[in-house]
Amino acid sequence: MGKALEGVRILDFTHVQSGPSCTQLLAWFGADVIKVERPGEGDVTRGQLRDLGDADSLYFTMLNSNKRSITLDTKTTDGKAVLEDLVKQCDVLVENFAPGALDRMGLTWERLSSINPRLILASVKGFGPGPFEDCKVYENVAQCAGGAASTTGFRDGPPVVSAAQIGDSGTGLHLALGIVTALFQREHTGRGQKVLCAMQDAVLNLCRVKLRDQQRLAHGPLKEYSQHGEGVPFGDTVPRAGNDSGGGQPGRILRCKGWEHDPNAYIYFITQGPVWEKICDVIHEPEWKTDPGYATPAARLPHLNEIFTRIEAWTMAHTKFEAMEILNRYDIPCGPILSMKEIAEDRSLYATGTLVEVEHPARGSYLTVGNPIKLSDNHVDVERSPLLGEHTDEVLGEVLGFTPDRIDALRRSGALGTPRRMAAE
Ligand code: COA
Repeated sequence: MGKALEGVRILDFTHVQSGPSCTQLLAWFGADVIKVERPGEGDVTRGQLRDLGDADSLYFTMLNSNKRSITLDTKTTDGKAVLEDLVKQCDVLVENFAPGALDRMGLTWERLSSINPRLILASVKGFGPGPFEDCKVYENVAQCAGGAASTTGFRDGPPVVSAAQIGDSGTGLHLALGIVTALFQREHTGRGQKVLCAMQDAVLNLCRVKLRDQQRLAHGPLKEYSQHGEGVPFGDTVPRAGNDSGGGQPGRILRCKGWEHDPNAYIYFITQGPVWEKICDVIHEPEWKTDPGYATPAARLPHLNEIFTRIEAWTMAHTKFEAMEILNRYDIPCGPILSMKEIAEDRSLYATGTLVEVEHPARGSYLTVGNPIKLSDNHVDVERSPLLGEHTDEVLGEVLGFTPDRIDALRRSGALGTPRRMAAE
């Protein structure tokens, strides 16, 4: 049973979401991920949004599967020495502290690469070099600064942030790719390197279709935007386009049967050019196939409101799942608006490992999202997140070869804190 990153050891000095989402992926590819946490509190998310007494929160448990946790106060002399010992034994150090925090610990790139020239230092920061480089950044700050918020929402409303954590987990994904690429390059060069992902850059990368449209604006109106068909002139910046699709094929979210009571009885419907005739058949408007006002994509643009009103009359006569079933028979692209409840109850997602139930000694069973990237020769079961400091002795003994006496002495020095007892004990 293969593990893609078998033999790769990650020193996981991350917290909150962006860094942990990256190292969790690496753990699911088989890397040994050792999470270093501050004694006492650990990753701040352990205690955030708690739902069950003092058990680690779902915020933490869903971002830290398959890792080992050690507690280490890296601001003590002994703790810092242990961290540097670990740097020698690891391939990658991943961190997402505020700008300058690693330097303040004395762990500059020069210092780290002199300890281990093969080390890859992977960092998430809010911004790259520039006017905002010293700022602390969270998810929604990145969504706003990366161009996503100004282009999300409806034209007559304020900017809107997305529930998809494109700033945090989106940056974590980018960083994971940077890390495996640097590991691949190290195979040829023998050297480590720095990998930096700025959250603003990651969001902008995911928003590139809107920067595309910004440039198109200089050459005329964005004809596929509903606003154009409604006769509303464009300004000098890309407007919010509601639920229009970014790919140029007109699309809308339409009501389905039951919408009066169910906030998610909706379907996304795309009037894709090549299947226009099939759409006309399904909604019983056969004359729109040949009527010059509707027959071509360009002719339809000024009539989108009328066309979608007619299509919605059809979708409202069907549940979103009935509509999905009928439309897919004709390859008409559409997507039901699924609630989190519906997703959590979808057994097919459990069959693929996209949703996984795991046992936790303090929480009992909880649901998490498994590895969304499926490799045919990578077989790693999703395991629960570690308790704070659960593997401190194990890692110090196994990875650094410390004797129990040496570990005791370290603990007495205050460098390790006191590991919490397993709730099951
Ligand atoms: N032992 C001793 N000290 C530790 C430690 C350990 N094991 N782990 C962390 N610390 C210290 C750090 O050295 C830092 O000390 P300093 O302020 O004296 O330099 C301190 O803990 C706090 O770290 P910081 O990163 O500043 O945390 P914060 O809660 O103030 O800020 C963020 C949180 C997320 C805003 C900030 O880390 C950040 O901007 N990160 C980069 C962008 C990012 O990833 N944001 C998304 C988060 S999902």
